[in-house]
Amino acid sequence: MTIKKIAVLTTGGDAPGMNPVIRSVVRYGINQKLEVMGVFRGWWGLINDELKVLDQRSVSGIINQGGTILKTARCAEFRTEEGQARAHENIKKYNIDGLVVIGGNGSFSAAHAFYKKYNVPIIGIAASIDNDINGIDYTIGTDTAVNTALDAIDKIRDTATSMERIFVVEVMGRESGFIALTVALAGGCEDVLIPEKKIDIEEVCHEIVHGNLIGKMSWIIVVAEGAGKAEDIAGKITEMTGLETRAVVLGHVQRGGRPTAFSRDLALNLGTMAVDCLIAGKTDIAVGLTAGKVIEVDFETAIQKKELKFNNFLRLIRILT
Ligand code: F6P
Repeated sequence: MTIKKIAVLTTGGDAPGMNPVIRSVVRYGINQKLEVMGVFRGWWGLINDELKVLDQRSVSGIINQGGTILKTARCAEFRTEEGQARAHENIKKYNIDGLVVIGGNGSFSAAHAFYKKYNVPIIGIAASIDNDINGIDYTIGTDTAVNTALDAIDKIRDTATSMERIFVVEVMGRESGFIALTVALAGGCEDVLIPEKKIDIEEVCHEIVHGNLIGKMSWIIVVAEGAGKAEDIAGKITEMTGLETRAVVLGHVQRGGRPTAFSRDLALNLGTMAVDCLIAGKTDIAVGLTAGKVIEVDFETAIQKKELKFNNFLRLIRILT
């Protein structure tokens, strides 16, 4: 089948770098003589007919912006038969030959189910701050989110050192400890709690008390949201050590901001790759960066639980404290 018209959408949590991907898909698509439509608010927009033709200029000035000009949403309706049927009606109405879905693993499971039912060609572009897509080393947005969290932790360190305090800093990542682990090592943090490893709060407290005895008075402990709440952990530390502890939740600040050069370059490469995949008749796959190369992974694999590679990080965090 010759592809003439494609549509692009962003879905799930926004990630810094989604705008550069949209720019890349639109401009490269037009360069390849395709018509490109934007779907607004993710799957919701496909169901509710919120589509618009995008031209070269419609994506001007967005390369350095976080978020997504197409808007995004979490859409439970797309998981229903009725929602999918309405989305398919709109695909037929606009003669769309292929979809580019920019999102994370929840978006890919929805895309996979839709493809299986309606056989619509779909290419996913891995974009999520959680970096939890199986088979893909780096998703778009991860690098920016890690650097945003690192910037915040560097600032917290100023207070931690000056006031000789313990801080528990909660970062995002859903069920993945990737952001926590990466930022804890880069930020020189004293410990990290991640869902992939059993937490031993007594051991953490023992280290703190021992550290205090030899003159180490400030601590930053990073906790991944999937491993627990900063407030609870800070409370336990105070209870067990008698030392004043502060909790900080970085939250959605990690999702915003200007994408880093790494997030942008990855986005711009993957956008063109997704368009090429559709032109080549490929479908039901995601594209992403693995072992330094842009690669294709079938959705079935991409949506499986990703194993966190510890890469020696935990050991280094402890040794270098
Ligand atoms: O998937 C990205 C993410 O930011 C997760 O890290 C976090 O658990 C979740 O989204 C928060 O979702 P929402 O913005 O819907 O509260």
